[in-house]
Amino acid sequence: MLFKVFPDHVLETVVKAEGLNILTKEGNRYLDCTAGGTHYAIIGWSHPLVLEAMREQLSRFTHMDYKIWRDSNTEELASLLLSRNEHNLDMVYFCGNSGGEAAEASMKMSYQVHYDSGRPEKTWFISRTQSYHGSSTDAMAMGERPNLMFYQPLFPNNRAKVTEHNQYTQKREDESLDDYAKRSAKELETKILEIGPHKVAAFMGETIMGGLIGDVPPAPNYWKYIREVCDRYNVHLIMDEVYCGTGTSGKIYCCDWDGVTPDFLLLGKTLAAGYAPVSAVVTSNEIYDVISNGQGRLQHTTTHQAYSLGIAAALAVQRIIHDDQLLDNVIYIGNWMREELAKRLSSSKYWRNIRGRGLRFSLEVQGSERDLFTERVSRRLRDQYKILVSGKWHRFSFTPSLLISKGEAELVVDRFCQCFLEEERH
Ligand SMILES: Cc1ncc(COP(=O)(O)O)c(C=O)c1O
Repeated sequence: MLFKVFPDHVLETVVKAEGLNILTKEGNRYLDCTAGGTHYAIIGWSHPLVLEAMREQLSRFTHMDYKIWRDSNTEELASLLLSRNEHNLDMVYFCGNSGGEAAEASMKMSYQVHYDSGRPEKTWFISRTQSYHGSSTDAMAMGERPNLMFYQPLFPNNRAKVTEHNQYTQKREDESLDDYAKRSAKELETKILEIGPHKVAAFMGETIMGGLIGDVPPAPNYWKYIREVCDRYNVHLIMDEVYCGTGTSGKIYCCDWDGVTPDFLLLGKTLAAGYAPVSAVVTSNEIYDVISNGQGRLQHTTTHQAYSLGIAAALAVQRIIHDDQLLDNVIYIGNWMREELAKRLSSSKYWRNIRGRGLRFSLEVQGSERDLFTERVSRRLRDQYKILVSGKWHRFSFTPSLLISKGEAELVVDRFCQCFLEEERH
């Protein structure tokens, strides 16, 4: 018997998926603006160049252990991921398959660096409320996803949180965005001082708060101020780009918008875009040197890290994404969609705001019936027009493939506005 975790989320039986379209046995063709529900399919499905690279890899070998053998694809992929010079990152560690593993690998790397540098008491990790970093036990402890909070008794004790960074709900009216950014960084500093700077290993945050509250970009300079606080107390900065990395924001890394380089940058679902599960921690020579001069090796390993078939897929995916024209188009289509949605819907009583970067953005609604409204609009869009947009709680999230055409974007916006306004009239 099949154990279905979320039985009510299963729509129909998929027979094929290509581009942004999902074809089902029931005879429907869905235009998917969620990139696979969990936002991984950032170049759509069945891309011929990725399938070709995977076939070619299958004819050579499926997996050779990363800790024993070299694989030219792995080296080429690492070089590609480091090829843009907006940041000072120069090392890639392929840590496993999921984003949660990347979060935990970065925490272990951070601790190993402190340990090998004679600071073994730095065991605390700080993150933010309303975050999501994965569902392995420690990644869960770093997040605050409501349905996972009953697991709290399993969480380690040396984890702490500061308030979510959300300019739409947390900024005071009498405060400028810069003051708010400074206040957020100050809260982190206060928390570090409260715990004791000699005990804090790292601070972890999603570059834009994504999955839960819906694509809220930081106030300008927020990450710069956070970086300063981290540097002051020898606390590593971990930026989670499992959701918003590799081109989805219109730049290769979302933190490139903020002009800040973290000590550890997390990549996951968008790396091989669903063609295979691959995750990575991007870091610096400085970190690498401490580890190689210390214990000599990183003590976090998994059997399928840098899974060869997955790396071949990720390399093909990232070659497609590392293209200036594609990135410009991500910015252009994202801006166009946001402007068009605002033009047509901002006078609605439900409208609150629209925000995000590139092709990761959310439209927030308000009112006592907002949860029901988002659910009803997205259901109408799915049932009537076979278009999938994630409508949950207070917001609709638009996370289409980066290869969405202008025509597809126009269709999504048209149909979405139609359903939004029809449901409003109800
Ligand atoms: C920001 C962020 N970090 C980590 C994860 C966890 O990734 P995975 O589900 O592959 O463990 C997610 C998944 O949605 C995410 O959005």
